[in-house]
Amino acid sequence: MQRIGFIGIGLMGSHMARHLLEAGHTLTVWNRTKDKAAALVSAGAQWAESPKLVAESADVVLTMVTDSKASEEVICGPAGVLEGARDGLILIDMGSIAPEMSRSIAGRAGERGVHMLDAPVTGNPKVAEAGKLGIMIGGPQEVFDACLPIFEVLAAKIVHVGEKNGMGTTLKLINNLILGVAIEAVSEAMVLSAKAGIDPQKVIDITSVGGARTGAMETRGPRMIKRDFSPGFSTDNMYKDLSSAIDLAAEFGVSLPATTISWDILRSAKARGLGKMDSCCVMTVLEELAQTRVSGAEKS
Ligand SMILES: NC(=O)c1ccc[n+]([C@@H]2O[C@H](COP(=O)([O-])OP(=O)(O)OC[C@H]3O[C@@H](n4cnc5c(N)ncnc54)[C@H](OP(=O)(O)O)[C@@H]3O)[C@@H](O)[C@H]2O)c1
Repeated sequence: MQRIGFIGIGLMGSHMARHLLEAGHTLTVWNRTKDKAAALVSAGAQWAESPKLVAESADVVLTMVTDSKASEEVICGPAGVLEGARDGLILIDMGSIAPEMSRSIAGRAGERGVHMLDAPVTGNPKVAEAGKLGIMIGGPQEVFDACLPIFEVLAAKIVHVGEKNGMGTTLKLINNLILGVAIEAVSEAMVLSAKAGIDPQKVIDITSVGGARTGAMETRGPRMIKRDFSPGFSTDNMYKDLSSAIDLAAEFGVSLPATTISWDILRSAKARGLGKMDSCCVMTVLEELAQTRVSGAEKS
């Protein structure tokens, strides 16, 4: 068993940290909002007053925070992980951040003798709770091999993308552009079916078989009908990921027309104050454009 540090006890991190604790690791945690770590501390985790102190008490530190800026702050900022790091510490950054930031953090970590993996995940809070995430990892083979038992506690699918840092976060953007476009497509289908007088449940039923089958419909369709936009994967986070995917595409001279439209609808949802809601709330933007309503009552 290892001494593991976990930073970022959010919707995803709370479940991931719990699995590591239940697997028997010694766990030290920090979260910007302390209250969110209370359940883990009651279950046996140690609380540390800063990411620096987490690093001082761990052999492997996992970070699971929102975006590039947040990862940089908790790792490289004042009282961050690198300030408490010693030679040989392993840092696994599991947030969905821009690949160039993964590389930049890995470079700064390397100067302190810290080995880093970028290891973003696929799934959602329920999948994290079930310990069945997908994890895609960029970084040196020997560091990946050393961390494999940790990944196995959290995931059903583990993909070592390549030895260069930023490879994991690059694949994550590619994965999420599919999800973002699929949720937009599902929203369009729901709104058109409402306008055409078709019960949206029948859209879910028929697309559960055949070529239009998509995880976006399976996971978001029922929520759209119930108008349950409580956050699973937020509009803000999806917007962040599609923004990074579009930046990446610009770097490689690739056009992403469908991604760009989905990103623009997300921006419109954000402008309506829906940034913290689940990204499937883009359906409401399309409802407004079509002057229709899919069904159900607002979840209070
Ligand atoms: N939710 C999903 O379905 C899903 C699926 C795959 C990947 N992801 C990715 O996983 C990561 C975490 O997502 P989540 O859904 O768990 O989000 P979340 O519930 O909003 O949690 C975000 C975490 O980051 C922390 N944080 C944000 N800004 C910070 C800062 N400047 N300094 C320190 N801590 C900061 C938050 O602290 P506070 O508690 O203080 O706010 C919280 O612990 C994101 O990169 C997301 O894209 C999410």
